[in-house]
Amino acid sequence: MSAFPDAVHSAWHMVALSRQVLPGKTLPAVLMDTPLALFRDGSGQVGALVDRCPHRNFPLSLGKVRQGAIECPYHGWRFAADGTCVDVPGCQLAPGDGQRLAASALRVAERHGAVFVALSPHAPAEPWLPPDFGNPALDHFWWQQGTWAGRAFDAIENVMDPFHTGHLHHGFIRRHDRRHDVQLVVQSHGDSLAMTIHQSAPDHGLMSRFLERERTHSVSTYYPPTTVQARWEGERRLTLCVTAIFTPATAGSFTPFARFSTPKGLAPAWLKQAAIRLFLDPVVAQDRRALEQQHGVMQHFGHPRFATGPGDLLGDRLHRLWKGERLPPGSDDPVPARL
Ligand code: FES
Ligand SMILES: [Fe+2]
Repeated sequence: MSAFPDAVHSAWHMVALSRQVLPGKTLPAVLMDTPLALFRDGSGQVGALVDRCPHRNFPLSLGKVRQGAIECPYHGWRFAADGTCVDVPGCQLAPGDGQRLAASALRVAERHGAVFVALSPHAPAEPWLPPDFGNPALDHFWWQQGTWAGRAFDAIENVMDPFHTGHLHHGFIRRHDRRHDVQLVVQSHGDSLAMTIHQSAPDHGLMSRFLERERTHSVSTYYPPTTVQARWEGERRLTLCVTAIFTPATAGSFTPFARFSTPKGLAPAWLKQAAIRLFLDPVVAQDRRALEQQHGVMQHFGHPRFATGPGDLLGDRLHRLWKGERLPPGSDDPVPARL
């Protein structure tokens, strides 16, 4: 039985950045316990094969790409992006052998520098794309740092949770000793859940002092199963939009991808990218370590057991969306807090 709900299993998932799938090379990836071999065929299309040669089960991701097909290092069988076996060295393929000896191929879609794969035949025709994902009025850049220990769901909860930012990320995002009075509003849209933080000034952390002039509110929205988008809005316009995608690799590991989008014109794209990276690296390292520690404790005790505190305004709603439930649409009463 899969460790993931059907709703997660039957979605499209981001498995790589386009720039990680280099022509002529294979890229291994793991999606919900299924190892994959990614590569580009002769026309540049990405192929995703289950990482198991149908012949003697050698890992295809260790192979090379020749003439647009992935070549198994063991006996040299070659497979096209649709899985068809196109060559068995030293032998003639009989009619029908291409299909009979095919590797298992998955549906792939490449959009705005992201490679999505559907593991399940029940996935929709196209991957769902978050708001502004390809908006040409914004500068975009991608960030990726391998596969992390922990559950994808706990990482989603981490980014939807504003209360850890002043503590775990003290000094970088917010400060635990200088807090703002804020109003928190949770709003359900049925198939997504948003938390808006109304706050009249930028945070006291280094990141906001450097990147923001003004702030009216920020909104974090969970789009199940694996996407969270955080938007920082000033008086006149969007300051920063971060779209984070947490792809489950195994039950205890996930591969995070983040897309940073900022309005064009404020500063050169390279400068914004350099500034964001400067503050991002320590913050990300803190979250990575925290998720790993948390996962270690849950593994030790065999299961998670969470208390719901006064700041845990989302309750079990994230988890219900993760499992594929819909929530009744509507807005909670604003909750005052100090962040
Ligand atoms: S195991 Fe792959 S070609 Fe034989
Ligand atoms: Fe964090």
